[in-house]
Amino acid sequence: MTSDVPAVSTRPTMPEDLPAIVALQARAFSPGRFARTAYRIREGAPDFSPYCRVALMGDRLIAAVRMTPITIAGRPGALLLGPLAVEPELAGRGYARRLVAEALDAGRAGGESLVLLVGDMAYYGRLGFTPVPPGRIMLPGPVDPARLLAAELETGALEKFRGMVAAHS
Ligand SMILES: CC(C)(COP(=O)(O)OP(=O)(O)OC[C@H]1O[C@@H](n2cnc3c(N)ncnc32)[C@H](O)[C@@H]1OP(=O)(O)O)[C@@H](O)C(=O)NCCC(=O)NCCS
Repeated sequence: MTSDVPAVSTRPTMPEDLPAIVALQARAFSPGRFARTAYRIREGAPDFSPYCRVALMGDRLIAAVRMTPITIAGRPGALLLGPLAVEPELAGRGYARRLVAEALDAGRAGGESLVLLVGDMAYYGRLGFTPVPPGRIMLPGPVDPARLLAAELETGALEKFRGMVAAHS
């Protein structure tokens, strides 16, 4: 069977993707997003890391996930996932799930131990994330403890991280 819908491919983010990613995020997120605590951490980090990924439908960028290397109480080996955005008209087709799975694989292959994010357990629980025990890891600003989630890339990794998150310089 043939289809007119171009196949979707994924790859690591490249510098020339950044304008399309910013435009995609503006369509996918509400305007209040820049006030969120996770953005304070990303502000101090480079625009992208080798673990960031995009999905393309033909030439069109339709989904992106940013992965920011962080330290927790000075300890490296962790990544902050987000923003994760999918073109609104293409939601529900598994593109976000695929990008997150690939970003976790890339982090593991790169020797990282833990991925942290602020998001919905109802969504990210299906992608391998669990709530961080309250008080274990702090962000530089208010965060609903129920939304601070982590995925171990190495068994027992969460136990090794305690304290304040900062961008990894
Ligand atoms: C959330 C988002 C990334 C999901 O992308 P996607 O490509 O549609 O996700 P997938 O196709 O992999 O998964 C879709 C499934 O997740 C569910 N889902 C989406 N958002 C959810 C949420 N907040 N809570 C629970 N389930 C959610 C969908 O209902 C769907 O369920 P189904 O598989 O049972 O039909 C996308 O909708 C988006 O960009 N939203 C706006 C930006 C945003 O909120 N990003 C997340 C920041 S933490």
